[in-house]
Amino acid sequence: MNHESIEKKIGLMGVLIAIAISFGGLVEIVPLYFQGVSNQPSPGIKPYEALRLAGRDVYVREGCYNCHSQMIRPFRSETERYGPYSLAGESVYDHPFQFGSKRTGPDLARVGARYSDDWHRVHLLNPRDVVPESNMPRYPWLEKATVDGDLVAKKMRVLRMEGVPYTDDDIAGAPAAVEGKTELDALIAYLQGLGINLSAGG
Ligand code: HEC
Repeated sequence: MNHESIEKKIGLMGVLIAIAISFGGLVEIVPLYFQGVSNQPSPGIKPYEALRLAGRDVYVREGCYNCHSQMIRPFRSETERYGPYSLAGESVYDHPFQFGSKRTGPDLARVGARYSDDWHRVHLLNPRDVVPESNMPRYPWLEKATVDGDLVAKKMRVLRMEGVPYTDDDIAGAPAAVEGKTELDALIAYLQGLGINLSAGG
């Protein structure tokens, strides 16, 4: 069969194009599943403690990712502003990851320890109290809702099935670790942990 006859049969050409593109895609994607750099934790990266895990779920539930990415790209303009670019191995314990692509607000991948807990508290209750021009919504209800410790333990058990190495002690200790904490405390603990664990040179 010569090329001309393929070009004249649009259905056949479509199938052959799909095969060629799929093969190209597989060659790029499949090796990533077997490379330590993309599926093993980067140095210093540990599973989320109970309170941070609860905070991460508040982050997802409230849709913070609709305005904030957690993915610093390897460009000078990004690394100057946000810090070292993100590594795949920093997200191995994130199910699902929070890379995002919408940046109405700044990237949060390395926001941990940039502000005090009190700053976050004021900012989340009413962003305009600390950043007058901010258009970020207020989240006053987070201060009133408490974290359900049994639910956190249950989530840790599920994540363990996904391959996150929580120990029996981690899971048994979860309810005590979040006892009396509000969703606001949890979310702040989560934010303060973002990007601070990557060891230098990792
Ligand atoms: C409608 C878009 C929008 C949503 C939704 C949103 N934010 Fe923001 N956020 C912003 C904008 C804009 C800024 C920059 C102005 C400011 O600091 O308030 C910001 C700033 C921040 C900062 C400070 C970052 C820095 O480096 O200065 C943090 C932390 C933050 N947001 C966390 C959150 C969290 C947590 C949520 C979800 C509970 C959230 N945001 C939801 C728009 C949003």
